[in-house]
Amino acid sequence: MINTVPVPDRTATAAVLARAAVAAGYAPSVHNTQPWRWSAQRDRLELFAVRDRQLVAADPDGRLLMLSCGTALHHALVALLAQGWTAEVHRMPDPTRPDLLAALVPAGRTAVTPEARRHFEAVRLRHTDRRPVGDQPVPAPALAAIEAAATGPVRLRLLSHDQVLDLAAVASRAAAVESDDPRIRVELAYWTGRAAPDGTGLTVDVLPGQPPQTTVPDRDFGRTGTLAVGQGHDRAASYLLLYGDDDEPMSWLRAGEALSAAWLTAVELGLSVLPLSVAVEVAGTRQSLRGLLAGLGHPFLVLRLGIADPDRTGPPHTPRLTAQATVERTVS
Ligand SMILES: Cc1cc2nc3c(=O)[nH]c(=O)nc-3n(C[C@H](O)[C@H](O)[C@H](O)COP(=O)(O)O)c2cc1C
Repeated sequence: MINTVPVPDRTATAAVLARAAVAAGYAPSVHNTQPWRWSAQRDRLELFAVRDRQLVAADPDGRLLMLSCGTALHHALVALLAQGWTAEVHRMPDPTRPDLLAALVPAGRTAVTPEARRHFEAVRLRHTDRRPVGDQPVPAPALAAIEAAATGPVRLRLLSHDQVLDLAAVASRAAAVESDDPRIRVELAYWTGRAAPDGTGLTVDVLPGQPPQTTVPDRDFGRTGTLAVGQGHDRAASYLLLYGDDDEPMSWLRAGEALSAAWLTAVELGLSVLPLSVAVEVAGTRQSLRGLLAGLGHPFLVLRLGIADPDRTGPPHTPRLTAQATVERTVS
């Protein structure tokens, strides 16, 4: 049961909000673009999309940008709860300002629960692991906990063995389409090379040193990294589809929040997560993914879950933009 009391001190609140925005910087984003900006005010925290860091070739609709911003939004809420604050969330509150994605308004103090602490600790531990997973399958209760973390209008569906094989074919097709697209190749080279702004993009140490053996292929990053992947195969992995009732920006934002909730839960359970978006980026294969859902909804992202290879050190954390670059404090 949550005990709330009225908001007391506005200066203290401003600091709490700014800290939450800084913690949100650890959120995952497509190609580590971090396409968000925060305005931390005395009584509210506002989240804006930064279109300069949208993938215009791979993500012209902004679906993955919104998913990425949704993860940041959920991270900020986790950070607020860990500081003993609840907040009201107003998503896309102003139709005349479509890039204002959310306003978080403190709603009162609450006891910091062990669960809130664990979630916040998971923020710093979470990272993307592109290596094959271990040989043991993910235990059913862990899968159920992760599926349950996706709430609201967005859901996670565990794919059957046959569906995973269909997914593999769809993902290969999508990867081939993207490899043939010079605009996408140039964009990928930008975000995996030195031209990307400092603190963004994918560094060589998180990219596989050789193609990992996986049932469902990841994108071809067009660059060989230095991450040791070993000889294992991810046969024991589970694949899930994140999906929703409609294919609109609000659902994409909510999908990002659900992705963050599911991923932090997975980290707490000692599981590795790999998001796979290529099949969602290509319109034709996105449609094929819809078929996998048997018309249940619109696909937003594929997630691979597994037990991380215990015999090898995992990938390092990717860099981040500085707090100065993403959080503006306007406290007068
Ligand atoms: C919406 C979204 C789509 C992503 N798609 C992929 C993908 O297709 N392949 C991949 O290897 N990583 C993918 N990622 C993982 C990002 O590359 C990763 O989050 C980012 O580089 C930051 O690294 P970190 O997660 O280790 O902090 C995706 C992440 C998000 C949020």
